[in-house]
Amino acid sequence: MNAESSRVRLTRTPEWAALGKHREQLGQTHLRELFAADPARGTGYTLRVGDLYLDYSKHLVTDETLALLRELAAATGVAGLRDAMFRGEKINNTEHRAVLHTALRAPRDAVVEVDGENVVPGVHAVLAKMAAFSERIRSGAWTGHTGKPIKNVVNIGIGGSDLGPAMAYEALRAYTHRDLTFRFVSNVDGADLHEAIRDLDAEETLFIIASKTFTTIETITNATSARDWLLTELGAGQDAVARHFVALSTNAGKVADFGIDTANMFEFWDWVGGRYSYDSAIGLSLMIAIGPDRFREMLDGFHLVDEHFRTAPPEENAPLLLGLLGVWYGAFFDAQSHAVLPYSHYLSKFTAYLQQLDMESNGKSVDRDGDLVDYQTGPVVWGTPGTNGQHAYFQLIHQGTKVIPADFIGFAKPVADLLPGLAAQHDLLMANFFAQTQALAFGKTPDEVRAEGVPEELVPHKTFRGNHPTTTILADELTPSVLGQLVALYEHKVFVQGAIWNVDSFDQWGVELGKVLAKRIEPVLTSGVGGEQLDSSTAALAAAYQALRGR
Ligand code: F6P
Repeated sequence: MNAESSRVRLTRTPEWAALGKHREQLGQTHLRELFAADPARGTGYTLRVGDLYLDYSKHLVTDETLALLRELAAATGVAGLRDAMFRGEKINNTEHRAVLHTALRAPRDAVVEVDGENVVPGVHAVLAKMAAFSERIRSGAWTGHTGKPIKNVVNIGIGGSDLGPAMAYEALRAYTHRDLTFRFVSNVDGADLHEAIRDLDAEETLFIIASKTFTTIETITNATSARDWLLTELGAGQDAVARHFVALSTNAGKVADFGIDTANMFEFWDWVGGRYSYDSAIGLSLMIAIGPDRFREMLDGFHLVDEHFRTAPPEENAPLLLGLLGVWYGAFFDAQSHAVLPYSHYLSKFTAYLQQLDMESNGKSVDRDGDLVDYQTGPVVWGTPGTNGQHAYFQLIHQGTKVIPADFIGFAKPVADLLPGLAAQHDLLMANFFAQTQALAFGKTPDEVRAEGVPEELVPHKTFRGNHPTTTILADELTPSVLGQLVALYEHKVFVQGAIWNVDSFDQWGVELGKVLAKRIEPVLTSGVGGEQLDSSTAALAAAYQALRGR
């Protein structure tokens, strides 16, 4: 541990030791026993946050576990770091930046200062500019170079400049302007842009170039190709760019260098992390899709959970609870992964979005002091919408050898505009939703299997051990506000875990090395230059690639 560190190593705290001892005492205690001992567990171990109903009764915890976990949170200063974040202190210590995505959804009269300046008026000014632009696109008032209204919107960005708007667009499709087409391009594989634009009329197409830094190679490459395509299709000169390209960025200089008029730039700030940015200007494509009022409803949903996280007591604080449960399983059950399983087709991109949020934030192995940690940090986050997963990988969750805590997210109502016959399928969807967490928790004992007349040799195969922990998150309907509430819940859960693990959840140095190496390897592939500097495996692979390309 380095000399300046004021924090005792997590695993040497008395709170950690107490949890370890408690884990031993808990042993193989089964959820069947915990439920039998407390008939009110199913209603008692629940929380309400805004429109979200959270059931954590199917977790391998008792009142004592929860109290010990809260003591760990207190000992590791979670609340202090949370307050510092909300106050605009520079808690991203490796980049010396404030972390203020919460200011993006603050009401107009809030005051949040960075370096003595209230950032809220600037946030609302950009939202107003986005709203005016969105309305012009939605109404057809904004026309392309040849005078036609815009019908297609293509967002080009990657990571946080893609996953958030792409996920939210899918999630809120029922609320979108159905006469407009939206596409999201991220991959530097030319196939991505090709498939996005091949059937579009350039005269009616707007490109939104989303990049916080405006230096990300994938985005700049795709944006350049999109510009070439547009100018070729229109047979126009550079002056056509202004009607078909806008930028979302913190870097006005690079935006101007690219040839986009900075009047067509929607600004955000270095205190917005990429993976926390979709309620900033990065959400422009989404705002065009759902309209400014729905976008505001979504921001208000975020804000509701921000306020809950900031003010709710530890016993009722949902992000704190979810964060602590993850710490519990990682540290004391050796859980390596965490499944997020939305029972909503509209949330098909939700888990992919959470992968960046969680894994880029807490996939770290040194702490804030630069010391190697001796405990597990962020889990592998994975999952796809139910019921599809049930017919694919649920076998492993039910009967495999791994501990996989899972979140099940479902809605009481189907979205409003489903065809009437299809809305009737919703009860079947939700019956599966409830059945899975029940099966995972309680399983099926050998005796229950035998009682069904199953031959003895098949009994072990048909037995379900159960005792698999799950959280159920239930809401009335997937509205813009509920989506905001859900995302904020996970943002703050990730925050809690980073605080306990003492990692900087807001940097991402781990993505840098690959970028540098790719730059070095590209000339080897295109012209054979520099191959001698590569290791023997990579050099041979590059040579094989060149041969296959006939170079
Ligand atoms: O390389 C990782 C990353 O920096 C992410 O954190 C970020 O969301 C993404 O790249 C895109 O960055 P930008 O918005 O600057 O293009």
